[in-house]
Amino acid sequence: MSSTEDLIGRAEVNDLESILAITNIDAEATVRSVADHADAIFTWDYEKGARPALNKLYEKAKTSQWNGETDLPWDTEVDQEAVVMNNAAANSTGLDDGMDVAGTPFEKFSDADWIRVGVESQNWTLSQFMHGEQGALLCTAKIVETVPWIDAKYYAATQVMDEARHVEVFAKYLDTKLSGHYPINAHLGLLLDDIVADSRWDMTYLGMQIMVEGLALAAFGFIHQLTTEPLLKQLLRYVMSDEARHVAFGVLSLKEYYGELSGPELKERQEFAFEAAVRMRDRFLQQEVWERMGMRPKDVIPLVMQSPQRQLFQQMLFTKIVPNCKKLGLLDANDKWLRRRFEELGVIQFEDLADTGEEYEMFALAQGDQRSA
Ligand SMILES: [Fe+2]
Ligand SMILES: [Fe+2]
Repeated sequence: MSSTEDLIGRAEVNDLESILAITNIDAEATVRSVADHADAIFTWDYEKGARPALNKLYEKAKTSQWNGETDLPWDTEVDQEAVVMNNAAANSTGLDDGMDVAGTPFEKFSDADWIRVGVESQNWTLSQFMHGEQGALLCTAKIVETVPWIDAKYYAATQVMDEARHVEVFAKYLDTKLSGHYPINAHLGLLLDDIVADSRWDMTYLGMQIMVEGLALAAFGFIHQLTTEPLLKQLLRYVMSDEARHVAFGVLSLKEYYGELSGPELKERQEFAFEAAVRMRDRFLQQEVWERMGMRPKDVIPLVMQSPQRQLFQQMLFTKIVPNCKKLGLLDANDKWLRRRFEELGVIQFEDLADTGEEYEMFALAQGDQRSA
């Protein structure tokens, strides 16, 4: 496991060789154990309503549960190759994502090769979503134990159920509609390890609710818009309605707490947020897909990164994270430390988009969206 200092001290955060040197070394193992270093906190203050915004969120969560087994159209047939072609046609990207392939290792790629990349990419993406959801499941269970406020324990308990359902539906989609799993991406794995291992209760929130879930909400939204596959579209719509609440939970809880922290304490949070941002950016390089295609990631990733679609996606991932960090006061504390880092990552332009404190109302499922409700 590597620490924040490793990344911050790294001279070149954009050095592809060092990014690709991080690989999953226990991909064959069935379990992974991480010490969570946290005290379980009881509170004897049961007074409900001290935090009205959290209470409102809790009430909303109680009436927004859905059933992954019965509410989604699992009888939909999914032809992965057809989905790749339909998506390329619907989004006018071409199978090669609009890349200029002359003189590159892709020069001799046939349509069939590109379709295989698309199919593997579906398998990879959904696998990482599933692993990330399990990270959320574990982190929210930890928050139930470690957060000192009763309203937050109540809310977090509803999120544990939400995340179980998310893992369940992504696993079912992979098993019954796609054609193979990928182990957890090493960058995502390191990030989840770091979040789980931190003893401070707010770091679980910052890492999971603000960074990982903020990114997930943006990524799900992007794919929801782009995909022509109706089952996945609906599955993502359902998951997003929950995720918007989860990010709001993070923003509402930390806003209160971060108002009380000192400069040096905030600096630790800024560094943690930056490290998480870099790891998440790196995970989306999909290095494992290129390995499975028999290509050297080092040769092809710089080319893939130039495709307009890919650049748009990389940036889109930060549309929730940056405004939420701003709302928490993390951008400008300590002489704008995190603002400078986000400038370097090329994502600061999202700072004034809507934060996710209230946005969950917009994502809520309409009455009648649910099949069996
Ligand atoms: Fe989730
Ligand atoms: Fe979530």
